[in-house]
Amino acid sequence: MALSPKLVREFDELVTHYPEKRAGLIPALHRCQEENGGWLSPEAIEDLAAYFELEPVEVFGVASFYPMFRMTPRGKHLVSVCHNISCTLRGAEELLSHVCKVTGAPVGGTSSDGEFTVVRVECQGACANAPMFDLDGVYHEDLDAAKAEQILRRAREGAKA
Ligand code: FES
Repeated sequence: MALSPKLVREFDELVTHYPEKRAGLIPALHRCQEENGGWLSPEAIEDLAAYFELEPVEVFGVASFYPMFRMTPRGKHLVSVCHNISCTLRGAEELLSHVCKVTGAPVGGTSSDGEFTVVRVECQGACANAPMFDLDGVYHEDLDAAKAEQILRRAREGAKA
């Protein structure tokens, strides 16, 4: 069961804020992903569909449309490297290559040790401090190879502590 009793209680409260139950699906997808290791399994999709009285394909359609939802397992750490214009002009491609080298993860994939998943993302609104990446929800800006490597090594060490 991908929906814990705690999540169900949250959703019961969440849906009271919307005119239709199904309107709470997107925040519910976020919470479900957070509570289930950072991705939405087929079981999670089915459980959400049952809760929201939708077909699984409808939930899958919403979840697969938005890039913030992952439909495959991810590493312990998610590195989201911006590749839009400001970041690209300030070295995003080199940064991305370096992130992949340091983490051992291919773009869009997960390192063999399961520590890191690396993805490209669109503008994160931090253009003034490009290039940047988001590591587990925290922005790191004005990056160069050395600074990125230090941040990623710290994350890896923290994961083993
Ligand atoms: S282009 Fe990278 S944060 Fe805006």
